[in-house]
Amino acid sequence: MEKHISVLLKETIDSLNIKENGIYVDATLGFAGHSSEILKRIPNGKLYAFDKDETAISYSNERLNKISNNFKLYNEGFENIKKRCEEENIKPDGILFDLGVSSVEIDDASRGFSYMKDAPLDMRMDKNNPLTAQVVVNTYKVESLTKIFREYGEEKHALKIAKEIEKERQNKKIETTKELVDIIDRCYPYKEKRNTHPAKKVFQAIRIEVNNELEEFEKTLKDSLEILNIKGRIAVITFHSLEDRICKSIFKEVTKENPVIKGMPNIPKEMLPDFKLITNKPILPQDYEIEHNKRSKSAKLRVIERIK
Ligand SMILES: C[S@@+](CC[C@H](N)C(=O)[O-])C[C@H]1O[C@@H](n2cnc3c(N)ncnc32)[C@H](O)[C@@H]1O
Repeated sequence: MEKHISVLLKETIDSLNIKENGIYVDATLGFAGHSSEILKRIPNGKLYAFDKDETAISYSNERLNKISNNFKLYNEGFENIKKRCEEENIKPDGILFDLGVSSVEIDDASRGFSYMKDAPLDMRMDKNNPLTAQVVVNTYKVESLTKIFREYGEEKHALKIAKEIEKERQNKKIETTKELVDIIDRCYPYKEKRNTHPAKKVFQAIRIEVNNELEEFEKTLKDSLEILNIKGRIAVITFHSLEDRICKSIFKEVTKENPVIKGMPNIPKEMLPDFKLITNKPILPQDYEIEHNKRSKSAKLRVIERIK
């Protein structure tokens, strides 16, 4: 199996302040890079981890078993974190989100995530999800496609690409990543193709739509703040501005001081916010990490702690 290199590994593990008897949740297990490091540090604790992708779960199960058996894996969406923690009667001391897809998912051509490899248009993390990229591309109206490309891809040629898709699918169903890349390519001015692949933004947008990524992340981050133990931390690694904006604004909201008491000496504890920011500015990868792993280039790590 081709490897996934974990992003901001040391920074994330350090920022979680791991206690050896603590309860930790990895919302995005992937290939257990972060989870392995957590598990090594909790001989008397327990790790709970989620992934929609069954390949990630079975690979990681083996990898983690070599460290210890203090873990439980869920092959399901992280939106179930709150429900599962309530069932298990636990309050996590740390929760980690390392968003997006793993390199293993991207490199597996058959999954249809990559604009560099020809494959059926799929892009589902969860193979039981009825919504595929093919459904989005062939059935969504031009207005919806334009909105998705604009909002989730920040694609400035959104309308042009959506119209070209509509024209093409009137002749023949669009079935493969290559067919979609060719359509997008025709809509892109030559000089804009030099710096970035023309299909990058549209592929990102369709992937977000297919997997309902932003809505699920926003809901689950709010749930995670509710169930976090006192002194517990949440670490979030994002890879694009839309995810980062959601994280930043939720963290800002819950760490906001009451303006009436702001700056006053001896503020009673109960009037302080429940959370404090551990990272005022996001932690970014160092140059050597970016050189070693290009995928880390756009990563940002934000961390928050429950204080009461
Ligand atoms: C960037 S990878 C995580 C890599 C991992 N931290 C490591 O070091 O190996 C993200 C993983 O999260 C999973 N994922 C993304 N969204 C999810 C969701 N809503 N629920 C569960 N898993 C999700 C993906 O399938 C992928 O395996």
